[in-house]
Amino acid sequence: MSLNQVRVGVGLTGSFCTFAPVWEALEELKGRGAVLTCVFSYHAQQFESRFGKPEEFLSKARELSGTEPVCTIPGAEPLGPKNLLDVFLIAPCTGNTLAKLAGGITDSPVLMAAKGHLRNHKPLVIFLSSNDALGLNLCNVGTLLNTKNIYFVPFGQDEPERKPNSLLARPDQIPAALEAALRGEQVQPILLPYGEKQE
Ligand SMILES: Cc1cc2nc3c(=O)[nH]c(=O)nc-3n(C[C@H](O)[C@H](O)[C@H](O)COP(=O)(O)O)c2cc1C
Repeated sequence: MSLNQVRVGVGLTGSFCTFAPVWEALEELKGRGAVLTCVFSYHAQQFESRFGKPEEFLSKARELSGTEPVCTIPGAEPLGPKNLLDVFLIAPCTGNTLAKLAGGITDSPVLMAAKGHLRNHKPLVIFLSSNDALGLNLCNVGTLLNTKNIYFVPFGQDEPERKPNSLLARPDQIPAALEAALRGEQVQPILLPYGEKQE
């Protein structure tokens, strides 16, 4: 399936070290003709860290999508009812957002967009980036793996010795994961090794 003219919502949450590879993947989606709408969690649009400033992230999203990023729950609410997306990708998805999604909590723009989108029985794809994905959050990974219309970008242990509970999705797998999800399938294999160490 082609991504040409496919309306891809992108929910960015506060895994700031993963923003750079996600931007690259979004460039690739844009190059394939996808129409992007970016949604920021409150934390993703507020925190400044060694990985960059909020205004830089918002500006990059604006540049890639050609539209103003969605930054509020009221702003995200119409995405579902107005049927504005074909697929919603949460990239990167923090452990916090993953746990809330699994628990039915809707207190950020990204979670609001996800909830509205799932109401339309359309695919939601998770790009996981969490240091506790094999720890406290593993139960939530399991819950979402077993939830209808939710799919995962293949992931692996990015640094097993230093961060034994960490899982990180593979940016190069995003297009294939989206294409499969649009067909109602989970791209396989879902577990992939990480070739090089990540920060
Ligand atoms: C510099 C920095 C890097 C972070 N990286 C991650 C990360 O990779 N994965 C993660 O789950 N949380 C990470 N966090 C913590 C989240 O930002 C925090 O849990 C926040 O509440 C997430 O909110 P959100 O899911 O609504 O964006 C990081 C925080 C900071 C300040």
